[in-house]
Amino acid sequence: MIKNFYITTPIYYPSAKPHMGHAYSSIIADFFARFKKIDGYQVHFLTGTDEHGLKIQRAAENKGMETSKFCEEISQTFKNLTKTLNLSNTDFIRTTEQRHKKSVQHLWEELKKNDDIYLSKYSGWYSVSDEAFYNDDEIEEIDNKKIAISSKSQVEWVDEESYFFRLSKWEKPLLDYYEKNPDFISPESKKNEVISFVKNGLKDLSVSRKSFSWGIKVPNDDDHVIYVWLDALTNYLSALNYPNKDDLLFKKFWPASVHLIGKDILRFHAVYWPAFLLAAKIELPKKVYGHGWILSNEEKMSKSKGNILDPIEIIDQYGLDPLRYYLIKEVSFGNDGNISQERLEDCINSDLANNFGNLCQRVTAFTIKNCNSKIPNKIKFNNDDLNILNKYEKNLNIIRSKIDNQNINYYIDYIVNSLFEANKYFNDQEPWKKKDDIIRLNTIVYTTLEVVRKISFLLYPIIPDSSLKALKIFNLSEKDINLNSIGNNEFLIKGNSVNKINILFNKIEKKDD
Ligand code: ME8
Ligand code: MG
Repeated sequence: MIKNFYITTPIYYPSAKPHMGHAYSSIIADFFARFKKIDGYQVHFLTGTDEHGLKIQRAAENKGMETSKFCEEISQTFKNLTKTLNLSNTDFIRTTEQRHKKSVQHLWEELKKNDDIYLSKYSGWYSVSDEAFYNDDEIEEIDNKKIAISSKSQVEWVDEESYFFRLSKWEKPLLDYYEKNPDFISPESKKNEVISFVKNGLKDLSVSRKSFSWGIKVPNDDDHVIYVWLDALTNYLSALNYPNKDDLLFKKFWPASVHLIGKDILRFHAVYWPAFLLAAKIELPKKVYGHGWILSNEEKMSKSKGNILDPIEIIDQYGLDPLRYYLIKEVSFGNDGNISQERLEDCINSDLANNFGNLCQRVTAFTIKNCNSKIPNKIKFNNDDLNILNKYEKNLNIIRSKIDNQNINYYIDYIVNSLFEANKYFNDQEPWKKKDDIIRLNTIVYTTLEVVRKISFLLYPIIPDSSLKALKIFNLSEKDINLNSIGNNEFLIKGNSVNKINILFNKIEKKDD
């Protein structure tokens, strides 16, 4: 059976350079992509930049730059970040690309053809920062300024001719769809919010703007550009060469498995996007997952608050894998999570250096000294050994289903417990006292090496680079990693050499130590 998996991140606004929030979404998406890859799936992993609209046009104006040049420059910093974060993305889309424009205009024509678009006039509130329209009841006044309650961003009054999408018509079909597909909006905690928004009544949505030009033109009406969210959401299709439905990418990967996004843009993905797709008679994605916010000092990190942690600076200081590990472990996935350098350092010291790094060093040093640098040959498992070895096979399907429910916390807890167990096993078994029982000594070493191998496979989606470094102990490489084989207790070939590796993680000296 061919197994396909298509995961997407939001396409980010290149209005300023990327920050930790963007890095977070991308790292989480990479985690899922890599997990599926080692579980035998063909994976398509898409990220990119959302380059049209007034927000970007104004950001370029503020810098005194030509808009396309401005986009080019900042989009490149997002593209560079995919390398810095070691993302396994298979594509990077820019909405200024021709392939995307074609796709958006086609979708527009489909909506038009089905009578879902009509010309009228929009009078109401608009937030350029969110690129979103707001109703009166979604606005409050603070210091004489009109503010969107949900995002706290300033809104301005818009009064202009505009095309509308008949969103109201899709209220009932959307509610039916949510009911029939209870996992479509995840996590569960965010679902009710969306459902009650829809139940409150959907108004038709303004989907074009006339007062500026930085966007994709409405087909057959050059005075209008297409609303940036209709434009942006379509990226998930244009990257698969929509409208060419015979295209191999489209056939293999649509509908998307997961659109991973932050909860700030859930309404666009869980209401507008499925409504556009229903109207265009295109299958809906299987899941939209709105994760929580990364907070710094208990506040959402954002440019306007000036509390940005720069991922590049953190990586320069601590390395990439510690950051990946920390973000995946410390933020309870689905909820908001406060991050701090202090906790990052604790994580490096306890989990990575002490727990994982140390285990690798101890068992390899012992093997080199006592087993002639070879994977032991003659072994005989007893119950203690089988106990620690067999749980991987037993739990494999549980792990898979937890991942399909985006339960990252289960996954990481599983690994942390396994590392504790492995260290404890090696201590308790005291192989250094077994020098006159060579089979027992060999078996303890073999068992511990196997556990290191299994855990390194599981760590690959989280800290790919360090996992591969650890697997060098056994001369294993990326192509050898396969989730199915974590159940195998005799994967390591007896008699093969065991290599010394460099320290995986340096401990951080804490100021108050
Ligand atoms: O909304 N914590 O782009 P954007 C966690 N272009 N995640 C965060 C975050 C934080 N503090 N800040 C940002 C847009 N993010 C649109 C998307 S998609 C068709 C168009 C992440 O640059 C999170 O994934 O404002 C959030 O949804 C996204 O960045 C918003 O990025
Ligand atoms: Mg934003």
